[in-house]
Amino acid sequence: MTDTTQQAAPQKAQIGVTGLATMGRNLARNIARHGYVTAVHNRTDARTKALVEEFGHEGTFVPGYSAQEFVDSLEAPRTVIIMVKAGGPTDAVIEELAPLLSEGDILVDAGNAHFADTRRREAALREKGIHFAGVGVSGGEEGALLGPSIMPGGSEHAYAKLGPIFADIAVSVDGTPCSTHVGPDGAGHFVKMVHNGIEYADMQLIAEAYDLLRHGLGRTPAQLAEVFDSWNSGDLESFLIEITAQVLAKEDPTQDGVALVDVILDQAEQKGTGRWTVQTALDLGTPVSGIAEAVFARALSGHAEQRSAAAGALPGPAEEAPFVEAAHADAFVDDVRAALYASKVVAYAQGFDMVKAGSVEYGWGVDPGAMATIWRGGCIIRAKFLDRIREAYEKQPDLPSLLLDPYFARAVADGQEAWRRVVQHSVAHGIPAPGFASALAYYDGLRRPRSSAALIQGLRDLFGAHTYKRVDREGSFHVAWAGDGAEHPWS
Ligand code: 6PG
Repeated sequence: MTDTTQQAAPQKAQIGVTGLATMGRNLARNIARHGYVTAVHNRTDARTKALVEEFGHEGTFVPGYSAQEFVDSLEAPRTVIIMVKAGGPTDAVIEELAPLLSEGDILVDAGNAHFADTRRREAALREKGIHFAGVGVSGGEEGALLGPSIMPGGSEHAYAKLGPIFADIAVSVDGTPCSTHVGPDGAGHFVKMVHNGIEYADMQLIAEAYDLLRHGLGRTPAQLAEVFDSWNSGDLESFLIEITAQVLAKEDPTQDGVALVDVILDQAEQKGTGRWTVQTALDLGTPVSGIAEAVFARALSGHAEQRSAAAGALPGPAEEAPFVEAAHADAFVDDVRAALYASKVVAYAQGFDMVKAGSVEYGWGVDPGAMATIWRGGCIIRAKFLDRIREAYEKQPDLPSLLLDPYFARAVADGQEAWRRVVQHSVAHGIPAPGFASALAYYDGLRRPRSSAALIQGLRDLFGAHTYKRVDREGSFHVAWAGDGAEHPWS
């Protein structure tokens, strides 16, 4: 008897994820949980099998045990998300999959790729009619599963397919998904890089606030956890402040009565996105002193030999901990809070300047207000503060600097005396606060009508005849320093 029932064609997947380490696995689960038939693939089959066995009840997964099987399981336009390490591993997966894809198919890199790599890959794959989209995903492993902030770059064609899916799986704030089309080619990864740069600056400022309070007040980490917890109910409300309280409150699990933070090796590591932000800012001529100080502070913390040699050899102010009298403790705590807020505004202002500079350089048309909107939730820098930034750019999209938005200008002005007192304390008591101090120097450099750069121009003209401009006349000029000392117009 021939079997008259037609064999049902295998269900085609709407989207696929290759690279099923924790981030990739959680992203695939998040997509499947939202009702999308999700193809899954991994270099080693075991991870694919484990995902389907352990989480197959959460949604419809279509396992692929070869690249060909994985690609064949996708509906057109085939849409594949790559979730592997940035750099070589991503290139290797692209090389394996691209020959199997057709014109109009979409290849997404959701790792932390350098935006220049994304621009290169997008241009190369565009030659084959394949739409390559670099997508920033922020929020770590938990965010990937429960709702990240998503920063998609790439073509409109790619976004037409990706946008609704990302809107479904991203976290939403006030009903607005924390995902939007950032711009073409490398725009998404560029903005994610800046997000990470801001994250570095934010974490450095928090660490400096902790250091100053610890040594200024002589309080324990657990006591300081209460201070950060109280700050999390005000203007500083944010994920990073929230988890700072958690880390400071944590006791060493291996011994009673010892704070975990006191047994963690004080050498900060970095995977590279903060460094990329500073390197790119140097090329774009955009000051990101807060991010740069954070990157260099991490590097310095890692120079163990230099530090141990310096520890005994370089004198500093007499260590008097606590250096704040008990009667002034509350005032000092509030001063540090004000300094942290003001310095944070500077760091975000510089970060948004970077977004603007990149957008102009590469012609992306990135909307800064939209970036603030999608950073309100899901990502590491998520904070109430970002709503204010969204409002600032909605009011004035061409704001010359976030510091010039009336709300932020007033907030920083109200806190600047406290800010200056805290920097003075850090200098007087030898507590390094490069984030606070550089932010204040940037603020003063931005607002003062005349800068010392006039002298630098004079010096450059004397030793290199590099010429200078004048405040009272058009054109460039050079003084015959070695000759008659006359000033000569220079074209
Ligand atoms: C995120 C994070 C993430 C970052 C890690 C480690 O947005 O989810 O920023 O992308 O890679 O936090 O970064 P570092 O090792 O550079 O500190």
